[in-house]
Amino acid sequence: MMIFLTALVVFTLVVFLLTALTGAPYVPTQRKEIQQAFDELRPIGMHDTVLDIGSGDGVILSEVADRGAQAVGYELNFYLVWISRWRLRKYGDRVRVSLKNLWSSPFPDDVTLVYTFGESRDIAKMYRKVEQEATRLGRPLELLSYGFAVPGIECVRQHRAHFLYQVTPLHLKEP
Ligand SMILES: C[S@@+](CC[C@H](N)C(=O)[O-])C[C@H]1O[C@@H](n2cnc3c(N)ncnc32)[C@H](O)[C@@H]1O
Repeated sequence: MMIFLTALVVFTLVVFLLTALTGAPYVPTQRKEIQQAFDELRPIGMHDTVLDIGSGDGVILSEVADRGAQAVGYELNFYLVWISRWRLRKYGDRVRVSLKNLWSSPFPDDVTLVYTFGESRDIAKMYRKVEQEATRLGRPLELLSYGFAVPGIECVRQHRAHFLYQVTPLHLKEP
């Protein structure tokens, strides 16, 4: 029994460590911060589909669903996928959490807003990923980044540590 528990703890630590190596480590956004961002910076409505790339325990997804919108989470750590699916089961089809690597997964066709709480080393790459998806979908997307501004790109608005960007498809950009 002791060996089994030790192996489980080691395995769990390895999963969290490996996930942190491919992107941001698991640290949830504070509920109060996201509520303020959705109240004052980018209100969420019934017609929104919000994609959280690296959805953790689902705190963003639950706030989105509480506001009547569709919430989609991509998460690489399967423990967090299970935990968030369990936590958010009361929302039914309004919340979808998938075990996906954000770098290699296309966004849902109906996405309107992309949320990220990433890493300073990845934020420019994340912006480019959103730009690629906006180009594929043929329409602008909004990006809400928590904690990190995108270097060299002006945000539309900022509220405390949240930065809102309008991401234009590459073919619609002015030369
Ligand atoms: C800083 S946490 C943010 C969690 C949540 N978005 C929030 O704001 O509370 C970053 C999450 O991204 C996940 N992650 C890291 N790399 C990823 C990747 N390549 N694809 C999908 N999720 C990833 C981590 O497992 C972690 O749960």
